[in-house]
Amino acid sequence: MKKEKKTNALLFLLLLHFTFARQLDYAPYFYDNGPSSTSGNMAFFSISEDTPVGAHIYVLNGTDPEGDSVRYGLTFEMGSTEYFRVESKSGNVTLIQELDREKQDEIAVLVSITDGRNKVVETVRVFVTDANDEAPEFQNPPFTVDVPEDTTPGNSIYRVQALDKDLGSGGSVSYHLQTSSFAKFIIDGHSGILRVKPGETLDYETTPTHFVTVVAKDGGGKYKGKHQVLTSTATITVNVIDAQDMPPSFIGTPYFGYVYEVSVPGSEIFTVYAKDGDQGSPHPIHYSIMNGSDGVFDINSTSGCITLTTYPSLLKNELYEILVKASEVGPNEQLLDFDITTMTVRVVDLNNHPPTFYGENGPQSKFEVTMYEHPPAGEILRGFKITVNDSDQGANAKFKLRLVGPSRVLRVVPQTVLNEAQVTIIVEDTSGIDYEKGTTLAFKLLAVEIDTPEHFSATADILINLLDTNDNTPKFTSDFYMARVPENSPGGSSVVSVTAHDPDSGPWGEVKYTIYGSGSDLFAISPSSGLISTQPWTSLDAEVRSKYNFYVKAEDSEGKYSLAEVFVTVLDMNDHPPEFDSELLEKTMVIGAPVRVEAMDDDAESPNNVIEYYIMTADPDNAFDINTDTGEINLKPYIKSMEIVQNITKLKDCKWSLVVQARDRGSPSFSTTAVVNIDITEAIKGRIISYIMGLSKRPLTVFGICVSIVTSLILLTICISTILYCNAVKKSRINPESNYIKVIRRIK
Ligand SMILES: *[C@@H]1O[C@H](CO)[C@@H](O)[C@H](O)[C@H]1NC(C)=O
Ligand SMILES: *[C@@H]1O[C@H](CO)[C@@H](O)[C@H](O)[C@H]1NC(C)=O
Ligand SMILES: *[C@@H]1O[C@H](CO)[C@@H](O)[C@H](O)[C@H]1NC(C)=O
Ligand SMILES: *[C@@H]1O[C@H](CO)[C@@H](O)[C@H](O)[C@H]1NC(C)=O
Ligand SMILES: *[C@@H]1O[C@H](CO)[C@@H](O)[C@H](O)[C@H]1NC(C)=O
Repeated sequence: MKKEKKTNALLFLLLLHFTFARQLDYAPYFYDNGPSSTSGNMAFFSISEDTPVGAHIYVLNGTDPEGDSVRYGLTFEMGSTEYFRVESKSGNVTLIQELDREKQDEIAVLVSITDGRNKVVETVRVFVTDANDEAPEFQNPPFTVDVPEDTTPGNSIYRVQALDKDLGSGGSVSYHLQTSSFAKFIIDGHSGILRVKPGETLDYETTPTHFVTVVAKDGGGKYKGKHQVLTSTATITVNVIDAQDMPPSFIGTPYFGYVYEVSVPGSEIFTVYAKDGDQGSPHPIHYSIMNGSDGVFDINSTSGCITLTTYPSLLKNELYEILVKASEVGPNEQLLDFDITTMTVRVVDLNNHPPTFYGENGPQSKFEVTMYEHPPAGEILRGFKITVNDSDQGANAKFKLRLVGPSRVLRVVPQTVLNEAQVTIIVEDTSGIDYEKGTTLAFKLLAVEIDTPEHFSATADILINLLDTNDNTPKFTSDFYMARVPENSPGGSSVVSVTAHDPDSGPWGEVKYTIYGSGSDLFAISPSSGLISTQPWTSLDAEVRSKYNFYVKAEDSEGKYSLAEVFVTVLDMNDHPPEFDSELLEKTMVIGAPVRVEAMDDDAESPNNVIEYYIMTADPDNAFDINTDTGEINLKPYIKSMEIVQNITKLKDCKWSLVVQARDRGSPSFSTTAVVNIDITEAIKGRIISYIMGLSKRPLTVFGICVSIVTSLILLTICISTILYCNAVKKSRINPESNYIKVIRRIK
């Protein structure tokens, strides 16, 4: 409680002190240094609109009577732009917003000064002064004006206006034309009135529209410390309106026409054409002939077509100069402006001459040369001396040359001729110039006019007689020849005939044949006919060699040759009969087993060496069969045993015989026969048994056998002794004693 009272007392004292001091204090104030000064309170201060933002422009300057330091303030009315700012201590004022006099030329500012206790606020006006920052501005663009082309020179045709918002000189405007517009127009520098230049006229036909460029320029003024002149430009479009002021004129002059031989009355010679100079609204044109037609030409008044009224043969002149008039037809059919031109009509070269071919002695329609075949490609055929000429003039003397005949063999140069040329014929394809294909080549040389209506032409026969060269090699009709020769053919037999052709003429076409190669020595060829035959002494034997292979050569006289191969096959003939080893064959046959006879045939091939066997006769008859192919002989099946054999023969001795024939299959066929004796026995085993059985039946026979065995042994001993003795006697003639001893010893 006590403390609170103390504080309240302090506050009171403080308040009392302030109240007392205020009574002694004076308000601060601004110095008034006049409107042209840059220090004071800004009253009547003026600033140029081109002052740059950020510039220091003014110092608020005031003081306090008590000498206290002062503070400055600067505000604007509510809602208006803040252009300046003040540094409160120093009073320095800066421009913070760009100025534009044309928008705002006066700024209300509230300036204040305070010493901390008293604050003085004053409202002052700052004036914005002009700078030349605005360019003249044209009013109401775009500018278009229609001007009749017959407008009197010097007459005004338009007025332009440009405004400049700047003041003074910078706001004054003067007008000028750009250099390009000087020619036809002038402009008043002050008023902006555009005129057709005195002495000049507008012409729709040459320039239907002009673009006039006007420059508006101000009087110049200061801007940011420099003198500045501002301009702007505008274009006035001047449309020239066509007036009926131009005569018609002929188009495409000078005119030339021609009367040809083929023209008839009514033939068109030429059509002239005139056009009204006033292209904006042209009048129709009326054509007429004024003079010079001599009554033989007429003109269609609407189309301008000039025609012939008579026959060309009745024309007296070669040249007509016709005066043609073209008039504009006015609205009431009256003829207005006109133009006149000359039409030159030439009666042309009625005797148009066709082209003509010339030889060395005047006109010629046939040219002939003789030359060797196959000249090289590109060679000029110098044998031809041909000139071609058309004695007309100009287009009538222009023609083409062409060679008609086997295509691409020859070429003619030049292709196109004016008046006259030497004709050159060049070889293009040498293979087409071949004696063997034809000994003559025929072409037609054509000259045809190009540009004349008649297309006159001339032809000449080009004849080339070819001489042969040896350009061909003999050629066989086949690459090889096959021949078959029977063996044993007599010497000189023909084998095969070969043929080779050489189309060349004379010796070049003559073919000589020769043969060579292994085995060819057995053969001979006729050099002229190509007939191959065996040598006189040759005897071919298929059994020795059956195939021969050699070459045949066909050669012409200059050694050009070709080869073919000859294959000779020797055919086997049936020249050997079958042969048995002997004419009498002894065979022993065991019953049940076959015996075989075989004959040989020396022929080389089947069927000549294929043998068949037949039984010719047999005794007894009907006991044997023979296999035709193998020669195997068998007893007939019913003869199964010796008993049957003996029953047939009725003899003890079983020796049967038969005549067998061997026959080859050749044609004609050869055959041989042989007698076959067959001793028929039984199989060994069966024989012994039967033998013993026989003995038991006949004792006499046993005795006989014993006798014969003993006899045989005695005979054998005698025989050996005799041989030994003979040997001993022979040897003893050289060394009788020793040999004798030896013999004795041996005998012992
Ligand atoms: C302010 O005005 C006084 C009186 O005219 C002058 O002496 C002084 O130099 C001025 N100060 C400034 C900063 O201009
Ligand atoms: C105020 O302007 C004066 C004169 O241009 C200058 O000398 C002074 O430094 C300025 N003061 C400030 C704080 O900008
Ligand atoms: C017509 O042409 C003839 C001869 O070409 C000439 O003598 C004559 O004066 C011409 N007349 C006119 C009207 O041009
Ligand atoms: C003239 O030419 C026009 C247009 O080609 C044609 O219609 C008219 O018939 C011609 N007049 C005579 C007289 O030939
Ligand atoms: C042999 O012939 C006689 C009479 O001719 C006959 O009786 C006998 O059967 C025959 N023998 C054989 C083996 O055929």
